[in-house]
This record gives sequence, C-alpha cells and structure tokens, in this order.
Amino acid sequence: MAKMIYAGKAKQLWTTDNDQLLRVVYTNQATALNGKRKDQISGKGELNNQISTLIFEYLADHGVATHFVKKLSATEEIVKKVKIIPLEVVTRNIGAGHFASRFGVEEGLRFTKPVEELYYKSDELDDPFMNESQAYALKIATAAEIEKIWKISRQVNQLLRSLFAEIGLELVDFKLEFGKTAAGEIILADEFSPDNCRLWDMKTQQHMDKDVFRRDLGELAPVYQEVLRRLTSKLEAG
Ligand code: C5P
Repeated sequence: MAKMIYAGKAKQLWTTDNDQLLRVVYTNQATALNGKRKDQISGKGELNNQISTLIFEYLADHGVATHFVKKLSATEEIVKKVKIIPLEVVTRNIGAGHFASRFGVEEGLRFTKPVEELYYKSDELDDPFMNESQAYALKIATAAEIEKIWKISRQVNQLLRSLFAEIGLELVDFKLEFGKTAAGEIILADEFSPDNCRLWDMKTQQHMDKDVFRRDLGELAPVYQEVLRRLTSKLEAG
C-alpha cells in the first residue's frame, strides 16, 4: 500500500512498489510568507508538473544528474528516492525579493557574478540564512558536498539562463534543493518551476512567476501557462 511520507506546501510525496522510487503529487496550493498565506489555484499543480518535467529533462539532456525519472500523469511524477539535504540553495543573477529588501536596494541590480546563498530548510525556524561554516558545524553537509552543490547550481544557472533568454525571459533568481542517493551521490532534487524562480519578461518586465501571487499582481495560472507555452514551443522546435 502506498503511503504518504511527506506533505509539503505545494507537493506530496508517496511511496511506490519500488523502494528506490517515490511518487510526487503536485497540488494546486500556493503559499506565501513561508506558508502563512495560502490559496488554491486551479491548474497550478498540472502546470508546475509540466514545466518542471520539461526543465528536468532539459537538464538531464545536458549532463545534470537529477532525481527525475518520468512524468506519470497530469499532476504526478516518479522520482528517485534520495535523502534531502536540508538546504535551500539560492542563486541570484539580478537583485530582487529578499536580496533587495535585506540590503535596502532597488530591485533590478544586475550582478557581474551571480550571488549564491544558503538557507537552512526548516519551516519552524522560517528557513534562516546559513553560511557554509554553519552548515559544516551542524553536519548538514561536508565541504566536498557543498562544493558539488555549487558546481551543479552554476551549471544549472548557465544552462537555464540561456534557455529562458531564448524565450524572452530573464532568469532573475532561483532556489534548488539537493538529495543524496544510497550510493552517496549528490543530485538535483525537488522541482524547477515558477514557484521557485523569478522570471521577468525581457520586453515588458512583467513578473512571470510566483511574485504574481505573493504581490497580488493578478491571476497566476495564465502566467504559468505562458511560461509553459514558450518553453514547449522552444523545446519542441529543438
Ligand atoms: O525570497 P527570496 O528573494 O530570497 O527568493 C529567492 C528565490 O528563491 C526566488 O526565486 C524564490 O521563489 C525562491 N525561494 C523558494 N523557496 C523559498 C525561498 C525562496 O523557492 N523558501
């Protein structure tokens, strides 16, 4: 019998018949302020599943090891079972969101070198900012593991910045999560969708990500649909 082993803010994780594999269910829930504001957005689960599938397949085709195995249905996918490293790994190409508020700068500052940040993944503690020495002290990851995490993050940034640029979207920032396989390999886990990145339309500067919900800028589903439409036409054209 399949068991739900984790209920996150926008996804659930279920066991499968194969103890190496898990089933992810994308839900329609949108949250802001670390879960303090919640809403149901019809179609969001399907859109994120489709977008994340396209991105993870694209990354795999370009040599990035991920937990993604296959899309199972409109809202479900099969992934490899990994031990999630409790770090939220944020890369920023342009200053926005908490970078802008924390340092008192306007959104839109372009960095010559991407900014890399770690946060400790803990709902109770509100995901506090964490540096590498704190991660080692708490035995969250070893130096070699953190080095691997940055290496993969940089590779993802290079690949996805170019991919989104080709469809008229600026990859402002994004959050990644990593997991460790039974063999001890660090691979990309979780998802990549407009729920955990910022995308700005290059022509109109319009927000094409979850900031539409966080900042009450209008309807979210049509925006995600447009991101999916552009990605699909680009990736299907090859
Ligand atoms: O809020 P902040 O500016 O730090 O977010 C940076 C990036 O990380 C954004 O793309 C945001 O969507 C993502 N993020 C996330 N989950 C969090 C915190 C941030 O996906 N818990």
